[in-house]
Amino acid sequence: MRPGLLGIEALSREDIEAILTRAKDFQPHGGESFKRFDILRGRMVVNLFFEASTRTRTSFEIAAKRLGADAVSITASSSSVSKGESLVDTLNTLAAMRPDAIIMRHSASGAPHFLARHLAIPIVNAGDGTHEHPTQALLDARTILDQRPALEGLRVAIIGDIEHSRVARSNVHLLSKFGAHVVLCGPASLLPRELANLASGVTLTNDMAEAITGADVIMMLRVQLERQHEATFPAGEYFRFYGLRLEHLQLAKQDAIVMHPGPINRGRELSSEVADSQKSVILSQVENGVAVRMAVLEKILA
Ligand code: CP
Repeated sequence: MRPGLLGIEALSREDIEAILTRAKDFQPHGGESFKRFDILRGRMVVNLFFEASTRTRTSFEIAAKRLGADAVSITASSSSVSKGESLVDTLNTLAAMRPDAIIMRHSASGAPHFLARHLAIPIVNAGDGTHEHPTQALLDARTILDQRPALEGLRVAIIGDIEHSRVARSNVHLLSKFGAHVVLCGPASLLPRELANLASGVTLTNDMAEAITGADVIMMLRVQLERQHEATFPAGEYFRFYGLRLEHLQLAKQDAIVMHPGPINRGRELSSEVADSQKSVILSQVENGVAVRMAVLEKILA
């Protein structure tokens, strides 16, 4: 693995397995909190977020601190970006303060890759435009593997705004590397046909019932209104055709799990009954976000 983490596509199965196995060591037991370690004592991590975040930014900060590192979080609105400073100048300024890694989220696909070519500091991609969100796919895999012995042979239905979803792309790369069958489902306006070529074992459908039938995992996606420049689907109709409701769960495997990267929009992507049901592992995903990000930071910095 190169220093930093820019995407799942470039990782090998061995890289991914090493992170997922190590993340298991960091998972808390019972009602305990995440344990403290000294593994990264003296290291400094900067979280630089140009887009809103609750889960990713907070869990990276907690992960760094639980490993003994110092962590500083900066948002674009509270930085000199709001005064017109360019991305490169902002990153060079932060690099001059000698952090050991920069965790970055940006609305432009490829922004962290561009910076990784210009800076010697490891860059971790915390979500770039519609391209990749690698630590989300890693925590999703950890969550599935907490419920299943292996990813191979699983049917994973990813449903919603596929076109704008970096979560979908990173999950397709990861799941297909491990032999899962990924079904991408959404309205035609949000499901570009070329996504079938993203990896082997990927199929596309506009029919939600078809996607869910026999599924081991149902992964719902947020409708990313901030990336839709024109209405691609009337808002009122979305839930009727692509919102997950209790009756859909009868079509999936009996022990199927429901996932969502968050933030969830109840009544648009899924009903409250489903979000709060026994099948929902949405909060386990959040918890695994800390464990997986501890494993990633340790691998990059220790
Ligand atoms: N899943 C995810 O990236 O959530 P946040 O936008 O809250 O970080």
